[in-house]
Amino acid sequence: MADGTATLALGDKSFDYKLMSGTVGPDVIDIRKLYADTDAFTYDPGFTSTASCQSGLTYIDGDAGILLHRGYPIDQLADQSSFMEVAYLLLNGELPSADELSTFKGTITRHTMVHEQLAQFFRGFRRDAHPMAIMCGVVGALSAFYHDSTDITDPKQREIASHRLIAKMPTLAAMAYKYSLGQPFVYPDNTLSYTGNFLKMTYSVPAEEYHVDPLIEAALDKIFILHADHEQNASTSTVRLAGSSGANPFACMAAGIACLWGPAHGGANEAALNMLREIGTPDRIPEFIARAKNKDDPFRLMGFGHRVYKNYDPRATAMQKTANELLDHLGVTDPVFDVARELEQIALKDQYFIDKKLFPNVDFYSGVVLSAIGFPTTMFTVLFALARTVGWVAQWNEMITDPAQKIGRPRQLYTGPVQRDYVEATKR
Ligand code: SDX
Repeated sequence: MADGTATLALGDKSFDYKLMSGTVGPDVIDIRKLYADTDAFTYDPGFTSTASCQSGLTYIDGDAGILLHRGYPIDQLADQSSFMEVAYLLLNGELPSADELSTFKGTITRHTMVHEQLAQFFRGFRRDAHPMAIMCGVVGALSAFYHDSTDITDPKQREIASHRLIAKMPTLAAMAYKYSLGQPFVYPDNTLSYTGNFLKMTYSVPAEEYHVDPLIEAALDKIFILHADHEQNASTSTVRLAGSSGANPFACMAAGIACLWGPAHGGANEAALNMLREIGTPDRIPEFIARAKNKDDPFRLMGFGHRVYKNYDPRATAMQKTANELLDHLGVTDPVFDVARELEQIALKDQYFIDKKLFPNVDFYSGVVLSAIGFPTTMFTVLFALARTVGWVAQWNEMITDPAQKIGRPRQLYTGPVQRDYVEATKR
């Protein structure tokens, strides 16, 4: 590439494409005219070399293990900020003043209740329904209750819908958990913080007083920060693609939840803890490492590897620190945590993992922390979705207001039969 252009030679022709630079990170080659120029498509299943948009929200340097939200390093935000402040930052681009944060938290707090009839949707599910199945359903159903914030061309309606989604996810997540237990739903308590309110809706019962443990509240708030946004990952790309058709924000977030559920993505936290429990004791680790390296075995080491990080996922480092602190505070000695630490040490010294640059990702330790707090594994991805709603909403707003945005419509390399005539059944 010379002075800002990339030249593509195709047969006896050559085509120049503009090189675009961001504020940091890889340049992009603007190939929007390539099909019109060459009558050929680019081919990039999994989008490993494709930038789908311009964004100012989150920057990841996978080789250096760097994650920035609006320029602020994730470890500084996890240690010094709060989930509500990070939500404001992602939505608005700057850290809020004290007054701005107070107003924002007040707005979110007053949207935490859900329409009373939404509770009926839960009653249609079996009690043992996976809470992610419930979340896919009830979040999509929000668009049937909040018609006054589905016009995506109206900035005010977009803002109200954004606040409603961020505010109501904890309420719906807590309801999904309560429903699985057969316990009554607990209404939001506006005297509590965003995360404290979620803990009370999840763990309190009408028959007793409930007091939020500030250390658990702080640990969970940090976990929410670590899961808030992550560039153009699969579920965020799903939300953007759904939103590009003009679908309402509630339906777009339901699509994001569905995608996040996959074990290769947000479902990995549940899968990682189940894997650690299946390993059970450190002496069985070599057996599982061997399986992960065996090409004929579909087994993968859940919580390891990442499309972008070819170094430590900085969120995994922060999560391990939180796990240590919380287990000490709770006086919990979880053998799963010992297996996790031993597995990490063994894997990081194994040539296969070194060669393929497979490091622990955000999902490797999160299950240990969530399990210590008392969440069942089936709730882990629900908590991921709760936190990632902030990123999805911020990315959706950025996409809607991007002048370059149009409906997402990828093409294909066709490998099916060429045209042929219909043959009636008697002649086949
Ligand atoms: C999240 O994109 C995001 O930002 C996602 C996320 C977010 O915040 O939104 O960070 C959240 O989804 C984290 C990732 C959680 N998933 C898991 O922990 C599941 C286990 N990991 C893998 O499934 C895998 O690592 C992926 C899906 C995460 C990434 O896979 P890639 O980038 O598509 O790479 P790949 O599948 O092509 O793997 C490259 C090689 C392969 O070997 P070869 O075919 O080259 O011989 O590495 C191997 C893979 O077999 N490999 C693993 C492995 N992960 C990759 N081998 C064993 N165990 C693993 N975990």
